[in-house]
Amino acid sequence: MPPSETSPRWRAWVQRCESTLEHALDSRGNVDARLTQAMAHAALGGGKRMRPLLVYATGAALGAEEAALDLPAAAIELVHAYSLVHDDLPAMDDDTMRRGRPTVHVAYDEATAILAGDALQTLAFELLAQTPVPPATALEMVGALARASGMQGMVAGQAIDLAAVGAALDADALRRMHGAKTGALIRAAVALGALAAQADATTRAALDDFADALGLAFQVRDDLLDVEGDPALLGKTAGKDAASDKPTYPSILGMDASRALLQALVQRMEARLADLPCDTAELGRLARFAAARGH
Ligand code: IPE
Ligand code: IPE
Ligand code: MG
Ligand code: MG
Ligand code: MG
Repeated sequence: MPPSETSPRWRAWVQRCESTLEHALDSRGNVDARLTQAMAHAALGGGKRMRPLLVYATGAALGAEEAALDLPAAAIELVHAYSLVHDDLPAMDDDTMRRGRPTVHVAYDEATAILAGDALQTLAFELLAQTPVPPATALEMVGALARASGMQGMVAGQAIDLAAVGAALDADALRRMHGAKTGALIRAAVALGALAAQADATTRAALDDFADALGLAFQVRDDLLDVEGDPALLGKTAGKDAASDKPTYPSILGMDASRALLQALVQRMEARLADLPCDTAELGRLARFAAARGH
């Protein structure tokens, strides 16, 4: 991403996340080399690392040690990477490009992609459970990530997405779908950072409202990029949503109303951050990036 969009702390956090992911994959042996390579293909060497950045930026704003944020940040990226591997499968979005490279089922095969996704998900929880925080906090983190990932979160959103192909969703249903398939993990990233910092309930509620707006903004921008993004920058095939008759913000509200919604969400995010009694500069930078990103 262009340097102007990042900050030195942002780049350092991405580097910490890369190292944690590399170490996690390298240090667990190679019981099946093809599976390990497919997992590395999905998890390493690409991606904006937006969810890890949110863990670090939230935790750091609230005074958490970075050492307490490394495993939650890597864990949520592993769940995200798994979700992308499965999202791209022929039975789901049937995509051949991801992060500028062939998708896992193209580079390997479909069964390996399913298994790599499964193992990325369980590795996430293995790492998260080892977070160096009090055991009760680690348990809360595991519960939060599990809820956000499954039948009340990302997987539910993916189910709604697939069931809604060709259907006329209204704006409320679209909001619920985006809130689940993308918003839940973004909210979990912020919640993990706040948990690592032992934040109080009021702070966590304000941050959750910020993260709710961010999650929606992130997927509205994703929908807009599918229509108008530069495929070379995107690293994935553009125009897929319309070709697959997916319900999206541009298809239901139109491009202008989708852009106006993004602006309103940025204002909501900035208002929430202004209420917090801590330095939220990096969270603000991430919020603006989510709404304006070109990839
Ligand atoms: C893509 O996520 C899928 C969505 C949930 C919108 P990202 O845009 O975060 O993808 P990477 O991780 O940077 O590749
Ligand atoms: C993906 O949404 C949400 C996930 C849970 C992975 P999309 O299907 O729009 O993501 P892209 O456009 O393929 O990255
Ligand atoms: Mg999808
Ligand atoms: Mg997709
Ligand atoms: Mg998309």
